[in-house]
Amino acid sequence: MYPDLAGKVVIITGAGSGLGKAMALRFGKEKAKVVVCYFPEEQKQDVDDIITDTHSMGGEAIGVFTDVTNEHNVVTLIQTATKHFGSLDIVINNAGIENEVPTVDMLLEDWNKVISTNLTGAFLGCREALKYMLEHNIKGNIINMSSVHEMIPRPHFVHYVASKGGIKLMTETLALEYAPKGIRVNSIGPGAIDTPINAEKFSDPDVEKLIPMGYIGKPEEIAACAAFLASEQASYVTGITLFSDGGMTKYPSFQAGRG
Ligand code: BGC
Repeated sequence: MYPDLAGKVVIITGAGSGLGKAMALRFGKEKAKVVVCYFPEEQKQDVDDIITDTHSMGGEAIGVFTDVTNEHNVVTLIQTATKHFGSLDIVINNAGIENEVPTVDMLLEDWNKVISTNLTGAFLGCREALKYMLEHNIKGNIINMSSVHEMIPRPHFVHYVASKGGIKLMTETLALEYAPKGIRVNSIGPGAIDTPINAEKFSDPDVEKLIPMGYIGKPEEIAACAAFLASEQASYVTGITLFSDGGMTKYPSFQAGRG
């Protein structure tokens, strides 16, 4: 646990399920003030449960419907959050999507949808957070959700890898640009994590062969990275991708030492 996170205002996009939900609950446990952004509207009931759980752990939370591809939605999100909680310390740009399509069959629509959610959505979140932090002299902290696929190529997911490669250099650039203002910008690079949308894919035992540690990660193991990066314990850390992947990025096919 990181006591300095208590009372901090944290916005988490895509927090209605999966990794975002785990991070919302972790920050709730840290007694932070959590803005649980969700999309689509159907997640409202789950978000109400996250809010109730957060309150029972000593944190505070509100839910805000946020389509990160909509510039106006993101601008309004920062206004709503700061009006409600009075400040803004941490923004986690987590909302993301993917779909499998061989490149020759990929519609421009598929490409645009993934890029506008994963990359442009994170850009808007960064830009609006930075504006607020600079204006109010806050030495805040931004975390972008990347992936092992900011470095591992992934056939049939060219839009997804392009978005995550973009997140990597966007994070590094913003870290450099705003370091003099004391604002830290980092990414998290999850590997194969056990979230509801991945359940079917990970029932294939071959997936574990890609993971030197031999198991599919838990959402809480990603939430722990977010809490660390946002905390004072990471006060000198900026511009990195913190991979939490059981070793997936370390060329598992070389594990036996051949080559
Ligand atoms: C993707 C998952 C994938 C994992 C490992 C993540 O970025 O969202 O679908 O299983 O990388 O390949």
